Amino acid sequence: MADDRKSWRSRRWFTAEDLRAFGHRSRAKQAGWDEDDWESRPIVGIINTWSDINPCHVHFRARAESVKHGILQAGGMPVELPAVSLAETFVKPTTMLYRNFLAMETEELIRKHPVDGVVLMGGCDKTGPALVMGAVSAGVPAIFFPSGPMIHGTWRGARLGSGSDTWKYWAEKRAGTITDADWAEIEGGIARSFGHCMTMGTASTMTSALDAMGLILTGGSSILAPDSAHVRLAKATGRRAVGLIEEGVAIGDILTPAAIRNGVRAVLALGGSTNAVVHMIALGRRAGYDLTLAEFDALSRDVPVLANIRPTGSTYLMEDFFEAGGLRGLLSRIEDLLEDAPTVGGLTLKAGLEGAHVQSDDVIRPRDNPVVADSSLAVLTGNLAPNGAVIKPGAMDQRFRKHTGPAVVFDDYDHMERRIDDPDLAVTADSVLVLRNAGPVGGPGMPEWGMLPIPKKLLQQGVRDMLRLSDARMSGTSYGACVLHIAPESAVGGPLALVEEGDMISIDVAARTLTLEVNEEVLATRRAAWTAPPPHYGRGYGWLAAKHITQADAGCDFDFLETGFGPKVPEPAIH
Ligand code: FES
Repeated sequence: MADDRKSWRSRRWFTAEDLRAFGHRSRAKQAGWDEDDWESRPIVGIINTWSDINPCHVHFRARAESVKHGILQAGGMPVELPAVSLAETFVKPTTMLYRNFLAMETEELIRKHPVDGVVLMGGCDKTGPALVMGAVSAGVPAIFFPSGPMIHGTWRGARLGSGSDTWKYWAEKRAGTITDADWAEIEGGIARSFGHCMTMGTASTMTSALDAMGLILTGGSSILAPDSAHVRLAKATGRRAVGLIEEGVAIGDILTPAAIRNGVRAVLALGGSTNAVVHMIALGRRAGYDLTLAEFDALSRDVPVLANIRPTGSTYLMEDFFEAGGLRGLLSRIEDLLEDAPTVGGLTLKAGLEGAHVQSDDVIRPRDNPVVADSSLAVLTGNLAPNGAVIKPGAMDQRFRKHTGPAVVFDDYDHMERRIDDPDLAVTADSVLVLRNAGPVGGPGMPEWGMLPIPKKLLQQGVRDMLRLSDARMSGTSYGACVLHIAPESAVGGPLALVEEGDMISIDVAARTLTLEVNEEVLATRRAAWTAPPPHYGRGYGWLAAKHITQADAGCDFDFLETGFGPKVPEPAIH
């Protein structure tokens, strides 16, 4: 044990007999520490994405105290390190622009401070992947503490789901079937507690994926934020953080290729958010594993959707999922498809599933009665998406699995807003709505604009789904026949930039194709005449992002943050 302790990072700050270490010790004493706090204890960083402006994380102030409680119980010394909160509902233009910002912040918070390991506190959409991306690059022991789903929303006896019911009732309001007063009541009932969105949006998807990858105490991602079990999870997470440090288990020992594939399988069995495709690829590449869109698609053919949770499922929310057995229950039903892998809890993933049970076969379906039999996420390619695009066939009108229609083209979001409800817009239910300049560079930040609104005149005719194409993402709580993440994006000259009004576009989900029915000669002429849109930023972080962000098929990380970009960053020198 004594030798292990000598290798802890924090020792380099505190145990040397030189001027710098004197400064560290004297200033630690200024904060009320004494020798006992650093001589025999590992120092555990708690990277906390709490903020008053992040309603999904407002309980993190209290939960951080519970994490500290657990760290102290196990003989560690907690140090809380605040990080940017990335509130999905407030950050403009989109939190995705700042995912890499939080990833960089996490990596550098760890590297520059005397911490031997970390607890990562996140949940709201981008925070999960960002914290883990940073921790992977820093390479220390790490355990994730998820914010947990909020309780279900309610309106006049109906259950409301985050996001999904916002889009649903917004369409009804535009169609004139609900009143302004109804809409105001929904506003007050759709988000009733702290915690992340309780549909199978990006937060539920990614925290479940991190759980299946072994980075959360197994099953912890399903615990509702206000449940007392969530407080106990916080304490247990703190205790295990100390255990991981003492056992010398780094995050890279957990985040293996098998673990990443298990994360993908969990996403698929959950009918999870399309955003997971981008995040899982980025995480994989940070961990040195080149997860590709093709591998995602291949895995999707084997894994059925068993979680009947909206928006892929028709009825239930995360509260029902938790009560039905949660992620452990779900994974127990696909155990034969999983690879065994270590977890932060000390048991392997499969050992952690022992004793799991399912309380409701309607919420967590058996294999012979899936919500979607296969391909909950499909990867399309073709002359319109040479590097790929994704669609969620389980959460759309099934007639769009094979469809051809004329394009209605919007050059950017403002152009779409100006035209979409124009009574003279030449559009029918068979048209294909195309939005461009909404990708990683063009958005900027690849906003969640991919669920383009249905034109008002079609809504009034009862149309509720159309084929829609973009280089944007869409919220995990969204649904519909939306082809997303088209790569390369239009702003860097991808073929989406060449589509003209009235061009015929074909999709065939079974064949995995997306085709612009225009011959190559005509496209070459259009390509020669194309000019790139002006940049959004002339300086600052946005400028940096536009220079270095990769395309959706590569995970939208910054090229210089990927593991393969350059040599390992050295630990800080002792001075
Ligand atoms: Fe935070 Fe949905 S807004 S998870």
